[in-house]
Amino acid sequence: MAKCFRSLLVEDHGKSGAKCRINDRFKMLAALAAILTAQYAFAQSGSDVLPFIDPLIGTANGGHVFAGATLPFGMAKAVADSVNDGQGGYATKGGKIKGFSHMHDSGTGGSPSLGNFPIFPQSGCPDDILDNCVFPETLREEYVYNSTVEASPGYFSLKMLSDIKAEMTVTNHTALYRFTFPDNPVGRNATLRPLILADLNDLPLSRSKGSVAVDEDTGRISGSGTFSPSFGIGTYELHFCSDFSGAEIYDTGVFMNNRAGNQPKNLNVTADGNNISPEILPAGAWTQFHAPGKGNQILVRVGLSFISVDQACSNAESEVPDFNFDGVHQAAVQAWAGTLSPVEVIPGNGVERKFLKIFWSGIYRAGISPQDYTGENPLWESDEPYYDSYYCIWDSFRSIHTLITILDPLSQIKMMRSLVEIWRHEGWLPDCRMSLCKGFTQGGSNADVILADLFVKMRELSAEHGLDWNDVYEAVWTDAEKEPQDWSVEGRGGLHSWKNLHYVPTDDYDPHGVGLFTRSISRTVEYAYNDFCIAEMAHALGKESDAQKYSERSGYWRNMYKEDQKSRNYTGFLQPKYLNQSWGHQDPIFCTPLLNFTSCYLNPDGHETYEGSAWLYTFYVPHDMATLITTLGGNNAFIDRLDYFHTSGLLYIGDEQGFLPVYLYHYAGRPGKSAERIHYYIPDQFNTSSNGIPGNDDSGAMGSFVALSMMGTFPNPGQDVYFITPPFFEEVSVTNKLTGKKATIRNINFDASYKNIYIQKATLNGEPYTKNWFSHSFFLEGGVLELTLGANESAWGTRLQDLPPSMSTSHDLTGYSMW
Ligand SMILES: *[C@@H]1O[C@H](CO)[C@@H](O)[C@H](O)[C@H]1NC(C)=O
Ligand SMILES: *[C@@H]1O[C@H](CO)[C@@H](O)[C@H](O)[C@H]1NC(C)=O
Ligand SMILES: *[C@@H]1O[C@H](CO)[C@@H](O)[C@H](O)[C@H]1NC(C)=O
Ligand SMILES: *[C@@H]1O[C@H](CO)[C@@H](O)[C@H](O)[C@H]1NC(C)=O
Ligand SMILES: *[C@@H]1O[C@H](CO)[C@@H](O)[C@H](O)[C@H]1NC(C)=O
Ligand SMILES: *[C@@H]1O[C@H](CO)[C@@H](O)[C@H](O)[C@H]1NC(C)=O
Ligand SMILES: *[C@@H]1O[C@H](CO)[C@@H](O)[C@H](O)[C@H]1NC(C)=O
Ligand SMILES: *[C@@H]1O[C@H](CO)[C@@H](O)[C@H](O)[C@H]1NC(C)=O
Repeated sequence: MAKCFRSLLVEDHGKSGAKCRINDRFKMLAALAAILTAQYAFAQSGSDVLPFIDPLIGTANGGHVFAGATLPFGMAKAVADSVNDGQGGYATKGGKIKGFSHMHDSGTGGSPSLGNFPIFPQSGCPDDILDNCVFPETLREEYVYNSTVEASPGYFSLKMLSDIKAEMTVTNHTALYRFTFPDNPVGRNATLRPLILADLNDLPLSRSKGSVAVDEDTGRISGSGTFSPSFGIGTYELHFCSDFSGAEIYDTGVFMNNRAGNQPKNLNVTADGNNISPEILPAGAWTQFHAPGKGNQILVRVGLSFISVDQACSNAESEVPDFNFDGVHQAAVQAWAGTLSPVEVIPGNGVERKFLKIFWSGIYRAGISPQDYTGENPLWESDEPYYDSYYCIWDSFRSIHTLITILDPLSQIKMMRSLVEIWRHEGWLPDCRMSLCKGFTQGGSNADVILADLFVKMRELSAEHGLDWNDVYEAVWTDAEKEPQDWSVEGRGGLHSWKNLHYVPTDDYDPHGVGLFTRSISRTVEYAYNDFCIAEMAHALGKESDAQKYSERSGYWRNMYKEDQKSRNYTGFLQPKYLNQSWGHQDPIFCTPLLNFTSCYLNPDGHETYEGSAWLYTFYVPHDMATLITTLGGNNAFIDRLDYFHTSGLLYIGDEQGFLPVYLYHYAGRPGKSAERIHYYIPDQFNTSSNGIPGNDDSGAMGSFVALSMMGTFPNPGQDVYFITPPFFEEVSVTNKLTGKKATIRNINFDASYKNIYIQKATLNGEPYTKNWFSHSFFLEGGVLELTLGANESAWGTRLQDLPPSMSTSHDLTGYSMW
């Protein structure tokens, strides 16, 4: 979604302490690397690769990556919450922290998500007076020793200036914290008598009501709150249940504002009639302890549930019965090793460690969301899986879901079943969804694309595992045919014009639903591609007249193509078009991030292209690149234009729409140029520093882009097409978790300085292979694709019959037919 572009947000080139922290880490890692270098020639997989994962990549300058402890697709996500830049919780240059909270979204733009019911430890209250402890978040903000921040899969820790060390790990619905207190409260004339509070707030301060209670015998703090989603409509209710272990209870109570007392033992906050904003009224409960025993440690276990406080408590009791921090941590590490286990890499001699870190960290980040809330959905009774935090599909359809399809097909099937179940109960597929609420739609109905992506790749296997393709079809058909009342959160607007005028007019007349009447160009091209994806399914399901209709509609992008529109030295761009068929005007470079970008989000005064320029959207015809290339003047003119796009600053790779243009050279018979481009962006724009991603990670979208690119298998999502480029390592293998078959891509003449990045020839299972793409059957059936590399472009993959399919040319000769 890229709500905020980092360079616009903060001009910070890192002269801070954070840089020193990175350097310290690097010294340690360099020492380790020296030991490990010798091993680079050998295969890496499973838990061997965990040291290469750095969850702090993307935690500075607006990357908003969640750096804390989570299981793959887990609901509990524990981390410290930074005061600044804290959309994902902890930010490397985010200054002070204000607490530790248990649920987050990763990489989002806009306002922060979740972060409900933060806890905060203090060693004792100054002069042993309760009210001298700090309660509201604005008062308790505290710096941390930056060099103490440690993050690894399933674990996060840091030390605060109060000398309290905070460590955290998780199970699926429970966060487990281990606080280690100093012998004497630092800077407080106080007895070591730790106080831990739980606040009813969330990160965006969205609470409309809440209640909390503390049990004076056990110290248990539990409660509930009603909150708003961070990029959507409505509200959600969440419950928590905190238990403590490691010290005797000294006293318990609640707090309101900056005052605390040991009576009463519960309180409720609701909106009052006086317009006193209940969201920001600090309120919560606390438990204070006698000095802990050996090790000065207190453990806090926080169970979570969207159903009830009782379920939050029972989740915690069953998942973490014994407060065994190291056991829970080890289980989390094992879960991540399992997620990574299908991938095996032989790095190759001399490969720099940073490339392995970029790669494994990218895969890791794409495993954080969507979140598995199965059993935690209060909205309807169902035995279907329920996933949430599709945040947003507009970003994730471009590569995350394809990566999940490759590495964890069963999870992908469950996620798609969950999408269809949302359609069954709410009438519409989401384009974005978080915290049980409808999120905002940014362009078309792109759930159609991820469903088609799975359909063309794993139709039968998905059906065997419970995905009902007839319902899927009805759901995507609904997107194409029915306009919802509120198309800002589901479906498509302007459908009447789409069906009758064959484009979305810039001054659309649409009395059928409400939404922002902006983005006419970007919605037109996205609707066209969405309809292509529906046509693919219609055809395979034997619905020929639908297939015909939707494939026709997939050509409507041409209706907004103005052939004499000039920009820079190029002619022919998408332009606004009115109801009366006459042309409007939008400078084709307008809405280029970092160049000229004003109100190019979901702004009421927004424009005709969303988060990108007409330059960018003119390239977006993923299903019929052959026609686009002809339209833009043929292969050479197209390549010239694409080169200019990449080198002029007009392409911003920090927004997911920038991904596909890296690989479009394949359609013009120049696969070597795609390889050149990706070797520029990695490591120039994707690297191992805390600001090592160029935009919001958007639930791991940037992570999936680097992972697939470095494997040499970037997809054209929605089609059974992977572009072949040489992997960044000597060899990469993926073992399919459903079929057990292993697919290997091997580079011959591999060169770690990346001079040999051009494929000279290829074989698939020993037979010559000339196509510059392959289909998902490679991952399902396994095999060995061997690429012989050289320092110059070659004729490999350049002939017409070698190119990926386009709808209009329907390359039957390639053995793959669009139909
Ligand atoms: C940690 O980094 C922050 C910048 O985010 C800085 O303001 C703070 O002073 C640093 N803390 C220490 C203890 O150096
Ligand atoms: C977490 O939930 C997933 C999905 O339901 C399950 O497969 C996994 O075993 C659970 N992990 C743990 C550590 O319980
Ligand atoms: C708060 O609400 C709960 C449940 O609604 C109720 O049991 C409790 O007595 C209330 N507490 C106060 C202080 O009103
Ligand atoms: C346009 O083309 C001319 C002549 O080929 C060249 O001199 C000029 O630099 C080009 N302008 C841009 C913006 O690329
Ligand atoms: C078409 O509509 C636009 C926008 O309302 C208007 O500016 C233009 O003059 C109209 N053109 C014709 C030919 O009527
Ligand atoms: C940005 O684009 C707008 C709209 O086309 C234009 O009016 C403005 O002059 C441009 N600004 C710059 C700095 O190019
Ligand atoms: C790392 O990536 C960031 C974000 O794209 C970029 O701004 C920075 O220049 C890169 N750093 C290096 C050393 O390449
Ligand atoms: C690659 O091309 C360059 C010039 O385009 C040429 O000088 C060089 O000899 C070529 N290298 C090989 C290995 O063919």
